[in-house]
Amino acid sequence: MKGKFITVEGIEGVGKTTNIAFLHKLISGTGKEVVLTREPGGTPLGEAIRGLLLDPQYTGMNADCELQLMFAARAEHLDKVVWPAMEAGHWVLCDRFTDATYAYQGGGRGIDVERIARLEQWVQRDFRPDLTLLLDVPVEIGLERAGNRGALDRFEQEEVAFFERVRQAYLEMARTHDGRYRVIDASQPLEAVQWQLAEELQPELKA
Ligand code: TMP
Repeated sequence: MKGKFITVEGIEGVGKTTNIAFLHKLISGTGKEVVLTREPGGTPLGEAIRGLLLDPQYTGMNADCELQLMFAARAEHLDKVVWPAMEAGHWVLCDRFTDATYAYQGGGRGIDVERIARLEQWVQRDFRPDLTLLLDVPVEIGLERAGNRGALDRFEQEEVAFFERVRQAYLEMARTHDGRYRVIDASQPLEAVQWQLAEELQPELKA
């Protein structure tokens, strides 16, 4: 049976880490081989690029530079990790993917969506996630949770208005995309969030 490519998205502080661990357990519990990975990163080179992208030393990085570093890391990740895993029939559970580029570089930084789409096509060809789980919380809640985790990275240091634009871009994609998006209200208690995640995953596990 073929594997699936599942992505998890959301602004900072939505509980991605906890919920991805839950999803990983849920999928592997059905006997499927699951590769857990993240973007930017997921390969040694991609993690080095991630280091540059998150380093507050580079505050004010040119937006096109940021955009292209995201896709540079993604090209390496697809080639070395994601596509080989999919070809082997494994599932891939990815903490962020190209929807984050549309949300952060598009919504947040204001880069034209058409330019992002051109890079997406170049790097990914027709490859897209099978399912995208968008964990959604109001920006104040997310930032408060993220702020309690210690030193802030270059993105976490952005102003509230930036994250409002990111969140709206995500919600807009969920409204307009081809049905691969599921929006989960992550401000609910954790058990309710995970109950909904399990429900959303059921059809994929059966397919
Ligand atoms: P993370 O800490 O949630 O793993 O993500 C690192 C940061 O990178 C997060 O602030 C979102 C940002 N990001 C983008 O701006 N564009 C992208 O394409 C990706 C994958 C992440």
